[in-house]
Amino acid sequence: MTEARFCIFDTAAEVATAVAASVAETLALKPSAVLGLATGKTFIPIYAEVVALYRRGGISFADATSFNLDEYIGLPQGHIASFRAYMDAQLFGHVDFSSDRTHLPGVTGDIELACERYEQAIANSGGIDLQLLGIGQNGHIGFNEPGSAFESRTRRVALTASTIEANTSDFPPGESPPAEAVTMGIGTILEAHKIALVAVGANKSDALRTAFKEAPSVDNPASALQGHGSVTVYCDRDAASKLV
Ligand code: GLP
Repeated sequence: MTEARFCIFDTAAEVATAVAASVAETLALKPSAVLGLATGKTFIPIYAEVVALYRRGGISFADATSFNLDEYIGLPQGHIASFRAYMDAQLFGHVDFSSDRTHLPGVTGDIELACERYEQAIANSGGIDLQLLGIGQNGHIGFNEPGSAFESRTRRVALTASTIEANTSDFPPGESPPAEAVTMGIGTILEAHKIALVAVGANKSDALRTAFKEAPSVDNPASALQGHGSVTVYCDRDAASKLV
């Protein structure tokens, strides 16, 4: 098994520069690349850096395709805290992505069918070239909470109380996150050719240590990445502080 490669930086800004560079490199090698995209606070400076590279003429998404990891169930369309709104605000609205090639999981109507179609669309695209991943404080990747099978596919999931609490600050005052979401499965994620996992801040240090320094266990979904041959972990010193 090839161990994950760790790239540890002093600041979140340096992490953002490095992750944006890996997106740029993926597009330079293959302009029609399929990108697996993540949301969360960690990715705000990363997408800002990607947009800056685009504005400097360094990259184009004109021939690229994207699939996001997850989306909440039950938010009104266009809700400011939906992951579609996040992606529009942080990335899609500022670069030359073709809107019919940016995909988020379907969360209305027949959700089970939408999940099957999401899997099919990823397969039809040729598979994900570079999957960006954050990590939850409980080790979740996408919205695969502890207990998720490593073979799991895109599906409807219930969020844990700790995830709901961690994401409440993304919502307007007085609102809290929905209790359910659709997420790509861990099995789906593991099929990406390359994976970049990003962790910033001391509150991610325990999850990162358990994910990579202990035996893989469904108790820490990110530990499934130990079974993937091409994972790079981009983190700051605070997140890396318990890795030794
Ligand atoms: C969110 C997302 C994950 C994300 C994680 C960490 O709920 N579903 O994809 O990686 O939690 O988010 P943050 O970067 O805000 O800490």
